[in-house]
Amino acid sequence: MDKLVITGKTPLKGEVSISGAKNAAVAILPAALLLDGVCTIENLPNISDVKLLCEIIESLGAKINWVSENTITIDSRNISCTNAPLDLTRKFRASYYLIGALLGRCKNVQVGMPGGCKLGARPIDQHIKGFEALGASVDVGQGNITAKADRLVGNSIYMDIVSVGATINVMLASVLAEGTTVIDNAAKEPHIVDVANFLNTMGADVRGAGTDVIKINGVEKLSGNITYSVVPDQIEAGTFMLAAVASKGDLIIKNCTTKHLECITAKIIEMGANAEEIDGDTLHVWCNKKTSKANIKTLPYPGFPTDLQPQMGVVLSISDGTSIINESIWESRFQYTEELNKMGAKITAQGKTAIFEGVDSLYGSPVCASDLRAGAALIIAGICADGVTEIYNLEHIDRGYENIEEKFRKIGANIKRVSEDD
Ligand code: EPU
Repeated sequence: MDKLVITGKTPLKGEVSISGAKNAAVAILPAALLLDGVCTIENLPNISDVKLLCEIIESLGAKINWVSENTITIDSRNISCTNAPLDLTRKFRASYYLIGALLGRCKNVQVGMPGGCKLGARPIDQHIKGFEALGASVDVGQGNITAKADRLVGNSIYMDIVSVGATINVMLASVLAEGTTVIDNAAKEPHIVDVANFLNTMGADVRGAGTDVIKINGVEKLSGNITYSVVPDQIEAGTFMLAAVASKGDLIIKNCTTKHLECITAKIIEMGANAEEIDGDTLHVWCNKKTSKANIKTLPYPGFPTDLQPQMGVVLSISDGTSIINESIWESRFQYTEELNKMGAKITAQGKTAIFEGVDSLYGSPVCASDLRAGAALIIAGICADGVTEIYNLEHIDRGYENIEEKFRKIGANIKRVSEDD
């Protein structure tokens, strides 16, 4: 078992380059199964969720070639199987995109019930509602999901809840359907737009992604050879922004899309930190004083992202005064607060609300990452704390952050990965 050992307290300084977006990549890889051809995907984050998806996609008959650390080609001309390996698909959340993609391409699919971070109930009723509206029959039972259709026909689908996963999954299932599909109350996250752009590069006709109404005109076939580069990761960029603020550091964040970071930029400036756009891809973030309290409510894009809530929680725990976070997306996303309290924070979490009484400083402690973003938050906390912090359960962090300790080390963190057997 590996752990991260961090010796604080270090202000982060220097340049960091952001990788391709995890939550775009994990949808783009299954989407590639819709292409009767070969696609090259660049700026792919080299993370464990991506490697797992590649393994699954290969088991379905696609051929994958790693051209470099962050570029692959996928040849999906021969899809020979629509039953994805159940044990592998159960390991993570994004395996649900195989349903939309294989249903679209082959009209038949079986996957294991998607797993992923334990953030509370994670129903998929809106995905199923969308598939059924297109004419599929969906069966959920014994830990598996099967979906099949004789034909898929476009329809109007109103999402009862703004859902990233359901919006993308219905897009995937409808690009090869007959006629037009309209998704109303669609999610608007940058990765929704990225997946739509990828589909359109393959020859699909998806319009309106990034607004709350997406229209998909079905096409007969997606074919040819295409190349696509994954959008920069909004959440990774936000993680480094908040790390710069929490550590009273000074970072140049490169290869990010500054437009996607506006709600975080606005919040940290309100709290007394500084952020300046150098160009559309580069942001300068620095902080040289104690930040002031703030109230945060997580919301779908363009609101404050739930996936940055724990990292912001670290900043608030060492800010002046009493702050409140209201988590409106996930019911169990405050598990990290117990770990921060072990490091000297004063946080009271109940249900979807947490109250942060700012303290002067955190101190090092052994802590456990309960999920991916909780893990990122604990790294930031360890960098800001006096003494030594040990972080366990690294498999969560490795699912979504590429070379995380190397990136933090390059900007001055004293962080190393240690095997418990060493
Ligand atoms: N929901 C339903 N029914 C559905 C789908 C969703 O009730 O059919 C509810 C969920 O329970 C939740 C809300 O709708 O309360 C939003 O869920 P959404 O479907 O948007 O989440 P998701 O697609 O499962 C993705 C990201 C998450 C991120 C959320 C919200 C991926 C693989 N995961 O999850 O990312 O928190 O959107 O932005 O894209 C992470 O990266 O750490 C992570 C958890």
